[in-house]
Amino acid sequence: MTHSNLTIIDHPLVQHKLSLLRRKTTPTAHFRQLLREVSLLMAYEVTRDLEIELREIETPLEKMQSPMLSGKKVCFVSILRAGNGLLEGMLDLVPSARAGHIGLYRDPETLQPVEYYKKLPGGLDQRLVIAVDPMLATANSAIAAIARIKELGAKRIKFICLLAAPEGVEAFTTAHPDVPLYTVAVDRQLNDHGYILPGLGDAGDRIYGTK
Ligand code: PRP
Ligand code: URA
Repeated sequence: MTHSNLTIIDHPLVQHKLSLLRRKTTPTAHFRQLLREVSLLMAYEVTRDLEIELREIETPLEKMQSPMLSGKKVCFVSILRAGNGLLEGMLDLVPSARAGHIGLYRDPETLQPVEYYKKLPGGLDQRLVIAVDPMLATANSAIAAIARIKELGAKRIKFICLLAAPEGVEAFTTAHPDVPLYTVAVDRQLNDHGYILPGLGDAGDRIYGTK
């Protein structure tokens, strides 16, 4: 699937780890570890265009002008609960980042998101805000979360997920054409219960061993 706003992260390590995550025999502890590893690699990709400036530093031999990150710190926003499975690896790569949380669950009957929590850092209008959730299925959750983030003033937003359904990509890019979308794979379709096929099952349940 191609879309001007969609980036597929096709690094072989990421693709390999996604296959391990998909396997139904992958145990919870390994699933969590793999997701953390994948998310670090995804963070590398999504932060490619962070702004840098030259600053003076001193090596053991002499002074030099050297590139450092500039501007207000990036903010990752985890869409609870499964988003936390991606957040940890992102913070491993960008330890100085700020983190926000938006609690949403999908009503199993209507597939509409229900918000139950929200806590984000200030100054969103001056930060790159990267929202994270492993799954983009109908995209109802992601669309609602991004709308919240925009309401709070954010102007530069990206959304990153591990797996997307074509229906979700379509809905998301229609609702938020200004928000670049990153994923590792776009799967075949949604089933009647809004699950991604072939997918990896319920991400939250697989991360936390609930079911
Ligand atoms: C999952 C997933 C997304 C949402 C995707 O969360 O983590 O947030 O479903 O589905 P959608 O694109 O159709 O909205 P879930 O509602 O299962 O909550 P959880 O993270 O608490 O497990
Ligand atoms: N949420 C998940 O965790 N998995 C899916 O396949 C769809 C929504």
